[in-house]
Amino acid sequence: MCGIFAYTGTKGKDASKVLLDGLLALEYRGYDSAGIYTPESGAVKTPGAVRELRKKIPADFKGKSGIAHLRWATHGEPTEVNAHPHSGGGDIWLVHNGIIENFQELKDMLMEKGHEFKSGTDTEVLAHLVEEKMNEVRPSFAKASEGKKSSVDQGLDGLFERAVLAALQEVHGTYGLAVQYKKEPSKLIAARMGSPIVLGIGDGEHFIASDPSPIVPHSKKVVFLEDGEMAVITPEMHTIYKLDSTQVGREITEIDWSAEEAQKGGYEHFMLKEIMEEPDAVRNSLRGRLLEDGSVRLKGLESVEDKLKNVKRIIIVACGTAFYAGQVAEYMFEEYAGIPVSVEIASEFRYKKPVIESGTLVIAISQSGETLDTLEAMREGKRRGALTIGIVNTVGSTIARETDAGIYNHVGPEISVASTKAFVSQLAVLALLAMHMGRQRGMKDETFASIAKELKLIPEKMEKILASTGAVKALAKKYAYARDFLYIGRTYNFPVAYEGAIKLKELSYIHAEGCGAGEMKHGPIAMIDRQFPTFAIALKDSVYEKMCSNIQEIRARKGPVIALGTDGDSLLAKIADDALYVPKTLDMLSPLLSVVPLQLFAYYFAAAKGYNVDRPRNLAKSVTVE
Ligand code: AGP
Ligand code: GLU
Repeated sequence: MCGIFAYTGTKGKDASKVLLDGLLALEYRGYDSAGIYTPESGAVKTPGAVRELRKKIPADFKGKSGIAHLRWATHGEPTEVNAHPHSGGGDIWLVHNGIIENFQELKDMLMEKGHEFKSGTDTEVLAHLVEEKMNEVRPSFAKASEGKKSSVDQGLDGLFERAVLAALQEVHGTYGLAVQYKKEPSKLIAARMGSPIVLGIGDGEHFIASDPSPIVPHSKKVVFLEDGEMAVITPEMHTIYKLDSTQVGREITEIDWSAEEAQKGGYEHFMLKEIMEEPDAVRNSLRGRLLEDGSVRLKGLESVEDKLKNVKRIIIVACGTAFYAGQVAEYMFEEYAGIPVSVEIASEFRYKKPVIESGTLVIAISQSGETLDTLEAMREGKRRGALTIGIVNTVGSTIARETDAGIYNHVGPEISVASTKAFVSQLAVLALLAMHMGRQRGMKDETFASIAKELKLIPEKMEKILASTGAVKALAKKYAYARDFLYIGRTYNFPVAYEGAIKLKELSYIHAEGCGAGEMKHGPIAMIDRQFPTFAIALKDSVYEKMCSNIQEIRARKGPVIALGTDGDSLLAKIADDALYVPKTLDMLSPLLSVVPLQLFAYYFAAAKGYNVDRPRNLAKSVTVE
């Protein structure tokens, strides 16, 4: 989720300087703590920024190699003890991006073997596991390597390599890793499963990083690891292996990006990068939570499980895009859990005199976990006796800490001001919560199974949409004249209409408004004319015919219409001026797909005007003022 940088070289460079400069190149990724380790000088770690880390590093700190990390906490608050690098017994040190899903089982096993843990992270478990594997492998290794050459050129036969390989074969979850063994300081091991890792190839020096940006100032030659691979690195060489020990040949790529472009993974803006990350964002939000036994495991809610069973009413408080996610959830909870829901604009809720009876659950949805209006609305609910839970992306944020319990999104930092991957993650998490509370209230096995099946297919259906953005880009160009845009939808896509509108207005500064399609005839249709296009979300769902009628009503008034329909629907292109399509899925999950073309449309519309898409005027990523 965050930043890794490691270095080994024989060119006389000061590794600590190389590593700290590299962390600065990774700062754009957003993070909450930082740390560095060299075999010569040990580890220095801190919550906060790289500049805090610099202040803590002693003047005599040095090394010819080392590892460094910017943490985006997923397990354990952003504190010094939880910052990376982590060690087991002091020989093995590692930095990690991602989530070790089975960390608790591994931790229990290791504690039974006498391991003592300092941090609350999943990562520290991995460091102890490697050290445990070294203890297991050492006896056979000693016998096998008698009289042999140094371990550096023994491929995977080295003690260090064999221990890391054995540990990785027991890990479930996602990792990008850099590992160092104190007794072989010039060697590094990298590994990748679900979190990007790139090797930098220099002359007498090698690098490991989570993206090319910290490598580019030293070398443009890189090798991208694939999932399920590990690499053994020394200043002179790198060798890549699969986890079954077979060696892999991999071409060296010449980076022709600037360091800044490297930060965006080659995309022009973070927003487009984050939209393209949405399939993985949903995978990470679902990871380990949809169990084969027909249940949902939400560890962050286990402490309030019984209270959730007694919930009679839900109030959702949020702002902006998070509010629209809450509105989608209203339909989910009412249809699949039979619980009445009201979704409240947080800045209003906190000033009205809300009626909160016993059995009320207040859900605060917030990517940043710091939006003051949402925080104060949640506090108002808590003051009035409600059970409070948070759906938050930023671990250790105020809302995450003050709610009674919560669910983390686990989608990593969202850099662009416009919320995209966080929104689809919120929808996925809210679907899980609706399924869980539905199960508590008698949801049938087959209903659960059908939702679970479709939910797991969402990432690949998103990938299908993202594979062909040309049509959306062309429409953004065709409609570039517009100064006004109407977005209409019904039921599950009613909130998506508003989300589509906020995306366009916050990025391109034009007037765009969402409207319930059924509401058009009560006023908004008066605005329609040739210069006032409408985006109509008309999926093959329970209100499809109604939406087609609404499209006809608009066309009868010469209003241009872009229809968003379901793959294979040949009618829409006949009744609308233009049509875009998304794959079929359950109505309750359709917003996860229908929002993607709307996000892309807003992106291309604004990018074509040359606007600062990632930092729109007048807006902040997290609104911590009232
Ligand atoms: C959405 O694109 C905007 N950035 C804004 O509406 C945002 O969703 C809102 O400020 C809430 O932020 P939060 O999720 O961090 O609480
Ligand atoms: N899961 C690890 C932690 O919480 C790694 C987080 C990251 O990717 O930065 O420390």
